[in-house]
Amino acid sequence: MPLISLVGSDRPKSFNASAVSLVESALQSLGEDTHRVGWENLDLPIYSQVIESEQGLPDAITELRAKLAGADGLIIGCPEYNGFMPPLLLNTLTWATRNQQGQPDLSPFRFKPCLICASSPGGLGGIRAASHLANYLLGIGASVYPDFFIVPNAFTALATAEASEPLNARAETIADGFLARTRLISG
Ligand SMILES: Cc1cc2nc3c(=O)[nH]c(=O)nc-3n(C[C@H](O)[C@H](O)[C@H](O)COP(=O)(O)O)c2cc1C
Repeated sequence: MPLISLVGSDRPKSFNASAVSLVESALQSLGEDTHRVGWENLDLPIYSQVIESEQGLPDAITELRAKLAGADGLIIGCPEYNGFMPPLLLNTLTWATRNQQGQPDLSPFRFKPCLICASSPGGLGGIRAASHLANYLLGIGASVYPDFFIVPNAFTALATAEASEPLNARAETIADGFLARTRLISG
C-alpha cells in the first residue's frame, strides 16, 4: 500500500528524520515501503493569501498534494519548537490545504491515516508539538493514529544504530497498529 513520510526538519542529521526512519524500517519488515518527501524541491514562500493570489500555488505543492492524494497513509516527523510544530512543517501543510483556484481544498487529507513521530533532546521528546499537530490534522479531516512514536533524549537515544535498538520494539508495535488502521480505512 502506498505510504509517504514527511519530516518537518531539513537538518542533515535531524533526530525526527531518524525517528521516522525507525518506523519506516518497522513498516518495511511488515512488507510496506514508504516514500519520503524530500525538502530539495519544497522551497516555499511563507504562505500568505496575497502571495497565493499573485503567484498561484507553488508547483512543489501541486506535486505534494498529488503524492498525498495517492497515498494510503502519511507518517510525519514533527520537531518541537517552543512547544509547537516548526514553521517549516506548518507552512508546508498550510500550502497543501489550498488548491490551484486559491481555495481551501482538504481532499488530500480527508480521512487520511496519519502517524505522528517526534523526537527532541529534551525529556518530553516533542510530545507537546505532536499534540498540536494531531489537533491540526484532525481539524483538516485526517484520521490521526492515537499513539505517537516519541523519542526523548535524542542525543543518546539516537546516537547510533546500537543505541536506538531498544526503540525498535516500540516502532514495530506502532507500525503494526498503524497498518491495521490504514487497511481498515483504505479498504
Ligand atoms: C526555535 C527552537 C525552539 C525549540 N523548542 C523546543 C521545545 O520547545 N522543546 C524541545 O524539546 N526542543 C526544542 N528545541 C530543540 C529541538 O528539539 C532540536 O533542535 C531538534 O534537534 C530539532 O529537531 P531535528 O533534529 O529533527 O531538526 C527547539 C529548537 C529550536 C531551534
